[in-house]
Amino acid sequence: MTVAPARRLTRPLIAALVLATLAGAALAKPEVTDPIVRERVEAMQLLKLQTGILGDMAAGKLPYDAAKAQEAAAAILATADAIEPLYEERALDPASDALPEIWNAPGEFRQKANRLYKAAMGVDAGSAKAIAGSMQALGAACKDCHGRFRQ
Ligand code: HEC
Repeated sequence: MTVAPARRLTRPLIAALVLATLAGAALAKPEVTDPIVRERVEAMQLLKLQTGILGDMAAGKLPYDAAKAQEAAAAILATADAIEPLYEERALDPASDALPEIWNAPGEFRQKANRLYKAAMGVDAGSAKAIAGSMQALGAACKDCHGRFRQ
């Protein structure tokens, strides 16, 4: 499929994406009060949810659904594209797990966000087996950034 992501998602767009996906699901961290940090956490929750859908289809826990799989891959791509702008401002919240290193090494942070973007671009949503073949690159991109920039 061809995905044409907006190069820079606006915040309201991300919020809409998150709302459409989470639809009432409780945030893991209600104690986060800073609005920018909340958006970041919501974007990460969205990544978890969508990656989970792909992972479950790959593992046969969820029946393969082409439209749903493509939707998940597109949402991951759009969210990956939004990571850098979401972390542009040095907003911090005591409940945030983001390390201040993000703002000392913005180039590296961007590179890791791009790695996820590329992994999302590379997702083959054509079958459960194809998805399974894409999951490792996806998961590695999440871990790569978390290992360096998340406490
Ligand atoms: C470029 C860096 C980066 C990438 C790539 C990334 N994350 Fe994160 N993630 C973070 C940071 C930083 C935090 C800490 C959030 C905060 O408090 O600001 C985080 C937090 C999280 C959380 C915890 C949210 C909460 O409730 O506090 C989840 C879940 C998560 N990420 C999932 C994912 C998944 C799944 C992927 C890959 C598909 C991913 N992330 C890719 C940087 C990244």
